[in-house]
Amino acid sequence: QQTAPFDYVIFGGTGDLTMRKLLPALYNQLRIGHVPEDARIIGTARSELSCDEYRERAREALEHFLPPAHKDAALIERFLKKVHYITLDGTKSDHNWDDLHALLEQSPADRIRVFYFSTAPQLFEAISENLHRFNFITPQSRVVLEKPIGTDSASARAINEGVSRFFKEEQIFRIDHYLGKETVQDIIALRFANPVFNAVWSAEHIQSIQITAAETVGVEGRAAYYDTSGALRDMIQNHLLQVLSLCAMEAPADLGADSVRDAKVKVLKALRPIPADKVAQETLRAQYVAGEMAGSKVPGYLEELGTESATETYAVMRAYVDTPRWKDVPFYIRTAKRSHKKVSEVVVTFKKTASSLFGKDGEHNRLVIRLQPDEGFGLALNIKNPSAADFSLQHGAMDGRFAPADGSLIPDSYERLMLDAVRGYPALFIRRDEVEAAWAWVEPTLQTWAANKVPMTHYPAGSYGPEEARKFIASTGDAWHEDM
Ligand code: BG6
Repeated sequence: QQTAPFDYVIFGGTGDLTMRKLLPALYNQLRIGHVPEDARIIGTARSELSCDEYRERAREALEHFLPPAHKDAALIERFLKKVHYITLDGTKSDHNWDDLHALLEQSPADRIRVFYFSTAPQLFEAISENLHRFNFITPQSRVVLEKPIGTDSASARAINEGVSRFFKEEQIFRIDHYLGKETVQDIIALRFANPVFNAVWSAEHIQSIQITAAETVGVEGRAAYYDTSGALRDMIQNHLLQVLSLCAMEAPADLGADSVRDAKVKVLKALRPIPADKVAQETLRAQYVAGEMAGSKVPGYLEELGTESATETYAVMRAYVDTPRWKDVPFYIRTAKRSHKKVSEVVVTFKKTASSLFGKDGEHNRLVIRLQPDEGFGLALNIKNPSAADFSLQHGAMDGRFAPADGSLIPDSYERLMLDAVRGYPALFIRRDEVEAAWAWVEPTLQTWAANKVPMTHYPAGSYGPEEARKFIASTGDAWHEDM
């Protein structure tokens, strides 16, 4: 439903994320009637641009990134009227803050203000300080922090401390766009709304869980950022550990922000530490080399970068959640750039039924939750082979889709989250203790990799990944979903 009127101030307003995701998300929410007519979106960045020039960029972005079914020339015009721009370096106290003031003053004093920091995290504290210095932070204000929150525990703590000098925790919305994916929220629905899964969701019946996010894209124009990050920081510390916590958490008392986040943080804190001397055994890192994708040659990571680098573009970690429910069940967390296909999925492999009825055990039951693309779920079962005279078994499958019943497209993850920040609903945002617990768990691996104590493996762009990944998962008795 429609939110209260708001002013959305985006720092990093000319950036890739704003153009690719944030503006299209707000446009689409306007399209479906969730954005009130007098809402305003104020882009800010250092570039000297007029409001008209900024609107022109926004128009191009919408033309480029909106799905064809959502493009509507009249609506784009209506949306652009809500868009404003101020040239502003948020880290400098002697910059155009007066212009921002003049614009925000046109709204009633109690209007909801959302400050969205889509900038490098090192700038978060300085921008917050200026917002405070010039009295922009009202009781109705919130701040959205884009990832990454730091590069390790210490920097994450420093950023959290820095921002919390000026904003209260309940005003701070740390975004992880995976939580905004409808299909990721479906993990909660599938688990807790269905006794057929809920009743068997433990080590007693589950052999392992694979969580994969593979992409066909390389580092695109983001090599400068990516090379300081790598796959583990870019995808595992945040998105995939969030997916893991939803898969592994105990039932929250309700779907309120604190209950869900309490349940998730318990999982993160129960992750079995991987000490330095186990990192080589429990993790795998790799970099793509030149290969072929869709019939064209693509360069390797180092060629794209133009320099030497020990940054991984592929990472696997084997995690254990040390709670009674998950006793010794491996969770395989895997992410890749330049993979042979784009797929994010959770694969739950159930233990075989030990039964003498059929002569031999059937295959594993397997639940595949397809987060994207082809959003839906598949369940592999054993059924009787209808053409066999004896009682031999064969594979049977059930398939379901997460698509909305009215045939519309699944909303983009930023849509829900951007308006949840307006509504002041933080359940799908990361609490401070979650960020810090996730960093604490990945840190020994990051350090051991940085010290070059784990060999870097390689895979051709467009391939399924390094050969070593097969041995890695086989060492605990499993196989990757695509090899099954
Ligand atoms: C971002 C990462 O957080 O997630 C990118 O920084 C990655 O490197 C992206 O491409 C993946 O998001 P999605 O929604 O396409 O899986």
